[in-house]
Amino acid sequence: MCNHQQLFITYLYVVLSFFVHLSASRHPGHLKPFGSSGPFRQIDELTDTFPDPIAFFDQYVSKLRPVIFRQAIKNDPHLSLWNKDENLKEIFLNNNEIVHIETSKKESRQQDILSMTMTEFLTRYQNEELYLVEEVPNILRPYFTLPTCLQCKPALETFQVAMLWFSSGNTSSVVHTDDYDNINCVLQGDKQFILVDPYIFKEVASEIIDNYSGSYSSMDVDQVDYNKYRSLNNDTLYYYQVNLSKGDCLFIPYVWIHQVRSKNRNIAVNYWLDHERVKRAIVDNNTCQLTSKSDFVRLDTLQWPNQETPNIEYLRNFMLDLVDEEFRNFKEWTREFSKNLNFDLRSDVETITLFAEFFNVIDVNENGFVTTNEIDYIFDNDKITEAYEILQDILDIVDRKLEKSQRTTNTSIGNSDEDDMFSDDHSINGTLSGDETEDEDNEHDEL
Ligand SMILES: *[C@@H]1O[C@H](CO)[C@@H](O)[C@H](O)[C@H]1NC(C)=O
Ligand SMILES: *[C@@H]1O[C@H](CO)[C@@H](O)[C@H](O)[C@H]1NC(C)=O
Ligand SMILES: *[C@@H]1O[C@H](CO)[C@@H](O)[C@H](O)[C@H]1NC(C)=O
Ligand SMILES: *[C@@H]1O[C@H](CO)[C@@H](O)[C@H](O)[C@H]1NC(C)=O
Ligand SMILES: *[C@@H]1O[C@H](CO)[C@@H](O)[C@H](O)[C@H]1NC(C)=O
Ligand SMILES: *[C@@H]1O[C@H](CO)[C@@H](O)[C@H](O)[C@H]1NC(C)=O
Ligand SMILES: *[C@@H]1O[C@H](CO)[C@@H](O)[C@H](O)[C@H]1NC(C)=O
Repeated sequence: MCNHQQLFITYLYVVLSFFVHLSASRHPGHLKPFGSSGPFRQIDELTDTFPDPIAFFDQYVSKLRPVIFRQAIKNDPHLSLWNKDENLKEIFLNNNEIVHIETSKKESRQQDILSMTMTEFLTRYQNEELYLVEEVPNILRPYFTLPTCLQCKPALETFQVAMLWFSSGNTSSVVHTDDYDNINCVLQGDKQFILVDPYIFKEVASEIIDNYSGSYSSMDVDQVDYNKYRSLNNDTLYYYQVNLSKGDCLFIPYVWIHQVRSKNRNIAVNYWLDHERVKRAIVDNNTCQLTSKSDFVRLDTLQWPNQETPNIEYLRNFMLDLVDEEFRNFKEWTREFSKNLNFDLRSDVETITLFAEFFNVIDVNENGFVTTNEIDYIFDNDKITEAYEILQDILDIVDRKLEKSQRTTNTSIGNSDEDDMFSDDHSINGTLSGDETEDEDNEHDEL
């Protein structure tokens, strides 16, 4: 009887392992880093220069086709700035702007985020698990010229925000998509991108991007489970692998799947383009007069495009985006508004008190969380005017404070009109600084 039992168990084991074996992935990429086993295809590559905006929009942006701009910014006069931390420490001396720092170089969307000054970051990042991912700080904006493939009015009008990425290397992102068209340029170190075309590989896109709200994959990018992500076993699937070094840029079209790794001391900037505006943009011989080099728009001289929509629309979209990103409570809103104002609202009793008032107006049922319904309600019932006035008060205070610190830091921002303190804060300009209309015409001429 004992024998029978043993025999039966052995039999069961053989049968089971047969089925496990049959269904388990034998793909060479199984349990390896994402995309590392290919197969790979070649991506278009242009050398030594960006195309002009007309060609860029015609051949790449509108066709959702990625392209490498090899050494496109090699002649940028500021490229050597990034060689040494000493250069940056000098710039940030006496600057109190707060930056936000990720604490896991292998990206996790649940990690802690630290706030510190750039000076503190620069003294710590070589020895700690720190990764700066932040909108390009104000004081650095004069050092960034927008890619020349954006240097004409209708192309510039698609620009949304420029982000700075800074670490000592060995970072890896999650597999994700962005709701933007994206130009990524490496200023220091090396970066590797793995791309998948979501328009051809729709099954892959819908299976692996399994966190819908965050548009990313929960997979372990160092050990991809091909049993879990069956779509990756598809024989027709191929990847693009792109290695960038200092001076190289890459265009990643709207919602293309990508994963990014970095090696060595690593600094990059990326320019996100608003896809709705990209779709509407007309970039042709009639609308796009090429700018001469001396007139190239830098991040600090860039002006927000003319919008017919009232400023309040921006506030609405900004708030809806926060809720979308699952930022709903007071703490998160304080953080996100602070980021956009480049001013820590908590650093001043008056601003944080006013901001609490503002939050309470939006949080209609006062349960501590803002929902889309509440935002809609606020707008439908014209309660937004009340909230908007509180924000204006906050802005006035912030404005006064920043003016003071700005004077002591010599940012030499071209546009020194005092009312324009937020004029280069794209993600929220117009929403919060609504009383500059008299300057509008002049400002738009700069485009
Ligand atoms: C999606 O990601 C967010 C964090 O970015 C997390 O809070 C949420 O639980 C995730 N959702 C699922 C379904 O995994
Ligand atoms: C690089 O990061 C990986 C995690 O993604 C970690 O396992 C490895 O130890 C790191 N290497 C170095 C040299 O820090
Ligand atoms: C493999 O991918 C192609 C292209 O996306 C698709 O048409 C096909 O249905 C996929 N095959 C399987 C078995 O999923
Ligand atoms: C990218 O670099 C890796 C080594 O880091 C190399 O194995 C790979 O072949 C390179 N890919 C391309 C497309 O050059
Ligand atoms: C636009 O101008 C370029 C060069 O000036 C010319 O080659 C091209 O044919 C023009 N395109 C149209 C649609 O006029
Ligand atoms: C900010 O918004 C105001 C009001 O709409 C506008 O006049 C100004 O041009 C904008 N400035 C920038 C830099 O976007
Ligand atoms: C301020 O910046 C300008 C140009 O960026 C520079 O020429 C000047 O020397 C700086 N002044 C001080 C006091 O640092």
